[in-house]
Amino acid sequence: MKNNFIKTTLIITLLLSVNMSKSQVVVAKNSPEMDKKWWKEAVIYQIYPRSFKDSNGDGIGDLKGIISKLDYLKSLGIDAIWLSPIYESPNDDNGYDISDYRDIMKDFGTMQDFDLMLKGMHERGIKLIMDLVVNHSSDEHEWFKQARSSRDNKFRNYYYWWPAEKGTPPYRWSWFDVNSNAWKYDAQTDSYYLHYFSAKQPDLNWNNPEVRTEIYDMMKYWLDKGIDGFRLDAFQFASKDPSFPELPKEIVGHPVEIIKFYGNGPHLHDYLQEMNREVLSKYPNVMTVAEGAGDSPKAAMKFVDPERKELNIAYHFESVDIGKHINDFGLVNYKEIFSRYDQEFKDKGWLSIFMANHDQPRMVSKFGNDTPEFRELSSKMLTTFVMTMRGTTFYYNGDELGMSNIRFDNIDDYNDVDTRNAYFGLKQKGGDLAAFLEDKKQTSRENSRTPIQWNAGENAGFTTGKPWLKVNENHRFLNAEVQENDPNSVLNYFRKIVKLRKENPVLVYGKYTLLDKDNPNVYCYTRELDGKKLLIALNFSENNATYEPGFSLEKAKINSNNYSELFVDNKNNTILRPYEAMIIEIN
Ligand code: NOJ
Repeated sequence: MKNNFIKTTLIITLLLSVNMSKSQVVVAKNSPEMDKKWWKEAVIYQIYPRSFKDSNGDGIGDLKGIISKLDYLKSLGIDAIWLSPIYESPNDDNGYDISDYRDIMKDFGTMQDFDLMLKGMHERGIKLIMDLVVNHSSDEHEWFKQARSSRDNKFRNYYYWWPAEKGTPPYRWSWFDVNSNAWKYDAQTDSYYLHYFSAKQPDLNWNNPEVRTEIYDMMKYWLDKGIDGFRLDAFQFASKDPSFPELPKEIVGHPVEIIKFYGNGPHLHDYLQEMNREVLSKYPNVMTVAEGAGDSPKAAMKFVDPERKELNIAYHFESVDIGKHINDFGLVNYKEIFSRYDQEFKDKGWLSIFMANHDQPRMVSKFGNDTPEFRELSSKMLTTFVMTMRGTTFYYNGDELGMSNIRFDNIDDYNDVDTRNAYFGLKQKGGDLAAFLEDKKQTSRENSRTPIQWNAGENAGFTTGKPWLKVNENHRFLNAEVQENDPNSVLNYFRKIVKLRKENPVLVYGKYTLLDKDNPNVYCYTRELDGKKLLIALNFSENNATYEPGFSLEKAKINSNNYSELFVDNKNNTILRPYEAMIIEIN
């Protein structure tokens, strides 16, 4: 079996290099010749620092923990790290509530640790992308403490206030509020303040130029330290109409509809253009990615159309907001989303490709199959998908091991402000709490936040103390140490596919064409660039499945496969075993 693996790898390498020289020209405007950028080619690996690696036994991941794993990160072959927030924070939302934008959270270490970590990354050729959370701050930020102290404080206008003498403010929905109400009454000044997320995350007033200048200076502070870019958190909500027109009644309680309403503020793109002029244009090699990017491909394009001079990469939510599990929403609908976005972005602008992050359940538990029989195969198949689509790959820590949902039974196991406040809100209303908890086993973002499983030992080698969130019991057999030594592991497959992507510009820039679009089991597409054509066929089901590429594959060569041996009876290369992923060279 080992020999077969080595043989297959050798064949892949040979085939790929031989076919690089073919000269048939296929026009792909998003091609390297047109607009080559490091961030288009990058595989970006997201670290959720609280759960990555604890160095001091307090049960919380930290910067020294990341430093201790830099060689592991290097060994993955990734190009950049997106680090979820590490700034000072009271942790109502685990760092997405920042109380000091220029300091490091004590749980995570010191600025000295940060400098060492950044140096260590750069020495290994890994770039660092920081989270930029500026739609809101923490209510413990000095600006908010000042602002709430009196109506004429000079920081008052850094936030949105509604004086109580004007009556109750027009209803606004909030994500993390127990009562889903984004206005919180503050007795000190007899006014309400606005918070689209939790009551401890007041929204910053971007209409105030002083706020914008503060943020731009802060961005320069980090860029001058040498970081390589920002991921803009929830920025689509930053621009608000301060008259706060009433939210249409029919969308209340429908977060996806609300995103559309909140995400299209009157000056959103003016602010982004200003940010570009004032900051980003002065650091031409950095990259930016917009979390949430409007409600359609066209809206997403507005964030990243190079002519508009705003941001670089759009990270839209349609492909994760589509539903709970692929068996419910269906592969055909899933394919349609990626294909529609690619169509809009084929000539300009740039997308991200991702299946998971810290706000989502585990990739394999949502889009694959995490039962013992299929967890490894389907993890590899999904990895093949994100590494062979057009767009910058964002890959979430732990998915390279095939980590799966933990599925807590009890609300006390949850730390997440989203899950907990929704639970307590429902409890107040007398809702069905058992059904809620059952649903969260599949959907809660806490599922992806459990500590990284480094080995089979106590607490999976994440900490010597009590972990801040329970470790998944399956670490006994599902962990990095075991997988390091297995050439066929999910981890080693990840490394192989990352390498394949890096060695084949066709997988980055090549034209994408969807084939057999109504096939309910197989996602099949080609990527083409400069005479090179690859067909990717992915079986998203637990049964054998066939597909119709529309041309003969009898002479095609298999470049890569997530099974350790090829299927000898598969004469036409159009039969896929459960969760099989094939990359096939066409010509
Ligand atoms: C999006 C972040 O990814 C999420 O974790 C956070 O809770 C909200 N924005 C609020 O910052």
